[in-house]
Amino acid sequence: MMNGNDVWILAIESSCDETAAAVVRNGSEVLSNVIASQIALHTQFGGVVPEIASRKHIEQINQVITGALKEAGMTLEEITAIGVTYGPGLVGALLVGVAEAKAIAYASGKPLVGVHHIEGHVAANFITSYPGMSAGDISRQPELEPPFICLIVSGGHTHLVVVKDYGEFDIIGRTRDDAAGEAFDKVARAVGLGYPGGPKVDQAAKEGNPHAIEFPRARVEGAPYDFSFSGLKSAVLNYINHAKMMGEEICVADLAASFQNAVVEALVSRTVLAAREYGTGKLAIAGGVASNSALRAAMAKACTENGLQFYYPDPILCTDNAAMIGAAAYYEYRKGTRHGWDLNAIPNLKLGER
Ligand code: KG4
Ligand code: ZN
Repeated sequence: MMNGNDVWILAIESSCDETAAAVVRNGSEVLSNVIASQIALHTQFGGVVPEIASRKHIEQINQVITGALKEAGMTLEEITAIGVTYGPGLVGALLVGVAEAKAIAYASGKPLVGVHHIEGHVAANFITSYPGMSAGDISRQPELEPPFICLIVSGGHTHLVVVKDYGEFDIIGRTRDDAAGEAFDKVARAVGLGYPGGPKVDQAAKEGNPHAIEFPRARVEGAPYDFSFSGLKSAVLNYINHAKMMGEEICVADLAASFQNAVVEALVSRTVLAAREYGTGKLAIAGGVASNSALRAAMAKACTENGLQFYYPDPILCTDNAAMIGAAAYYEYRKGTRHGWDLNAIPNLKLGER
């Protein structure tokens, strides 16, 4: 049912290797969420090749947008505003989405709302319904409202933030070196699990013993909410090299489970500490690594033990998608954020920056 006060966002995301478009109503109801993944294309190179990503985005973007409108059963005229990721990410990839969004907004006379990719990941937690949602997900009510603590863990980011209000963040912790997802990807490559590593390690770890190998847990002196994963990554690589030199067989499942356990422990301990310290009572996770099954289980357990309400997006809303951009764009739109035709892709856009 259409209502005069409803805000319908057509959202576009192209910051890395997914070309995505979605239609989102009032920041929480996803009408369509179309994702054209390039993963298969980049797998043969063992990682994302920026030039290929840009080219593929250009090929896919029109179909993806048309598909999102069609699936939502809407016309462009019925849309309130166009939301688009303008950073951070790969510049050539971002440019495709930004140029497309500007063209559509200009031609249709709709407002243009640029969105920070990470703000999008956080906003995935505000989504309450989406196509294909299972009944079990509804048990996550009550709906999430700021303030809350959010752990953002993706291929390029590891941030611990206080979400003070919609789109308002205080960054209290970050990684000093590798992002959590990057560590997963590098370890997966080293043991021959392929790209993208996170889901492969997650799967392999299910058959392994998380206590088989004692990997180091790094702490950053004087910064209780900061992370460091490069020492852990080196320890895993050393373990593999040592085994190779000795001619010993590596148990990939045990290695995956032990590495994953070390990452999960670091993520859970700091996030729960922050939620207790800041007294928000609510804790959310976001980003590609937030779909990790061990992280979700450990965080759920720790939240129960500490009397915290735990929020987490469906796995399809954790990895890159446009529905989350539509949710973030809604709150930006309500705050009055409007971008002009000079909106540009900003590859190193900082959180909270405009
Ligand atoms: O959020 P995302 O799709 O893209 C970025 O903004 O970076 O995150 C991708 C990252 C990759 O490093 C991928 O390996 C990781 O998220 N990832 C996972 C899992 N699924 C994706 N890491 C651990 N376990 C998973 N199940
Ligand atoms: Zn992302």
